[in-house]
Amino acid sequence: MADLSGQVALVTGASTGIGRHLVEGLAARGMAVAGLARNGDRLRTAMAEVAEATGGRTLAVAADVTDRAAVEAAVAEVVAELGQVGLLVNNAGLIDEFEVPVWEADADQWWEVVSSHIRGAQLTIRSVVPWMVLRNRGRVVNIASGMSTRANPDYSAYSVAKTGLMRLTESLVAGLEGSEVRAFDVAPGVVDTPMTRSMHMWQGFTDWTPPEAVVELVAAIAAGELDHWSGRFVRAGRDDLDLLRSTTPADAARQLRLRPYGGTDPIA
Ligand SMILES: NC(=O)c1ccc[n+]([C@@H]2O[C@H](COP(=O)([O-])OP(=O)(O)OC[C@H]3O[C@@H](n4cnc5c(N)ncnc54)[C@H](OP(=O)(O)O)[C@@H]3O)[C@@H](O)[C@H]2O)c1
Repeated sequence: MADLSGQVALVTGASTGIGRHLVEGLAARGMAVAGLARNGDRLRTAMAEVAEATGGRTLAVAADVTDRAAVEAAVAEVVAELGQVGLLVNNAGLIDEFEVPVWEADADQWWEVVSSHIRGAQLTIRSVVPWMVLRNRGRVVNIASGMSTRANPDYSAYSVAKTGLMRLTESLVAGLEGSEVRAFDVAPGVVDTPMTRSMHMWQGFTDWTPPEAVVELVAAIAAGELDHWSGRFVRAGRDDLDLLRSTTPADAARQLRLRPYGGTDPIA
């Protein structure tokens, strides 16, 4: 297990599902980990349980990632209590509630889903990345999905959000050129969580991705072992960590691009 002691992580959506697994896995590797979610009671309980199970240091900062003032206050609390954030994991987010085609979707819920992923990530990045740039180190992980690159008609808001989040990662990395700060798209596979349990498409599914695979991938990123994958998409449970460590992606590999229709495509 990589030793990440001395580092500070902030994980959003930390009270359940993948976020909670990440907090536990990072704390077990020695990181001081702050978890953020809206429901403060559930979050505090989860962070206390993780601290007890791992012997690590955790902090609960309740906030809605789409609330600018709340995110700024939460990050300020993390910095005051634990120190500057070296690893930011944008994991919080919602899924389409109604599983209907885009023209039937409730406009408010649709936008709430998009906002939870996109506005949420931009607000945490605004609060955390300037300090990473000043220190010239730090890593941002945006949690991606299969729907980052392929639309699902029942989850149009989520598809839009996850694709936009990948573009946000790429924009962030482009803006960070010349610095040592890195950012990554990490798709977790299909993990058994309250979100996947709520989705009809996963009913009866059994081939779940072990949460440890997500933890190991994010821990390798935190350890600086995958910096050459900055700005690119990696997938827990499918990507082999050793292969990722030894492979440097070229051109636009694992990035969002239009595929040319052939050799004569004028916009290829
Ligand atoms: N599970 C999978 O197989 C899978 C696959 C691909 C991608 N993902 C992505 O992985 C991430 C975690 O998924 P999950 O399955 O673990 O989801 P989950 O079980 O629904 O957990 C979501 C977490 O995010 C928090 N959250 C939701 N909206 C928030 C907001 N506006 N502000 C702050 N916190 C918020 C929730 O707590 P509160 O409700 O208390 O805020 C909860 O802690 C998501 O980005 C999801 O899209 C998951």
